[in-house]
Amino acid sequence: MIEADSDLAIEHLTPHIGTRIDADAETLLSGRHAKQIRSLLEARGVLVFPEVGLDDDQQVAFTATLGQLAYENNGAPGPVGKLQAIFKVSLDLNVTAMAKPLKNSLLWHLDGTTHDVPILASVLTARQLASEGGDTEWCSTYAAYEALPEVDKQAIDALRVVHSNLQLQRNINPELSYEAFQRARNSPSKSQPLVWKHRNGRKSLVVGATAGYVEGLAHDDSLDLLVRLRDWATQPQFVFRHKWKLGDLVIWDNTGTLHRALTYAPDSGRLMHRSMLAGEEPVG
Ligand SMILES: [Fe+2]
Repeated sequence: MIEADSDLAIEHLTPHIGTRIDADAETLLSGRHAKQIRSLLEARGVLVFPEVGLDDDQQVAFTATLGQLAYENNGAPGPVGKLQAIFKVSLDLNVTAMAKPLKNSLLWHLDGTTHDVPILASVLTARQLASEGGDTEWCSTYAAYEALPEVDKQAIDALRVVHSNLQLQRNINPELSYEAFQRARNSPSKSQPLVWKHRNGRKSLVVGATAGYVEGLAHDDSLDLLVRLRDWATQPQFVFRHKWKLGDLVIWDNTGTLHRALTYAPDSGRLMHRSMLAGEEPVG
């Protein structure tokens, strides 16, 4: 379906998730459609602006039309904790000191599960492409929750899951050294509801690579549920996959989706510039 108004052309790419919006940079930067883009973001999970080619300043300005900018340490050499609005996403240690942790980007996850208020959204611009691989996938955790049988919805409604960097590190490397294990164990973890009851009235699943265990369940029963729900949420009917072109800009609702990058070579040159919108509501 294609809807067009004066300067936005909108096309839904799958039934549950993913919408293409054709617009020029001036239109996006004007903020004229910020309200419409925010509501599409919530309804559709992922919005693709093909080959719009924003530079860093324009990307930050566009992001700021949609909400409150979030800042992060960009991993560049210099004062520790220097916060910037643009973060370089690469697996190449020559590009960013954060390259190693970004291996987690290859596993289904949402960002900020150990924070009180996870970020609302991420924005990526494709600056350099891998010649092979490096597509990004998202799944709608709203649609996945809504499609669950009623009996499952009731069974999981009050459950809580502990999310941790420890679990993430063990997913990346199941045989951590004891030293690395202790480091990960001492990093943040947080108990969150398994079902996010959003202020908009909808519910979504909070699962993925940071989900360590379900509180109150035996080890294998906890694993069984977390694996089953992640597998359920990432079925093809809930997934949108994007093959990048240079200059593509994609924004996704971090609170109602999981995301992952598909494998690419660390020295492929693939480079994304990311900006983010600060979170607006806690999971629980
Ligand atoms: Fe992420």
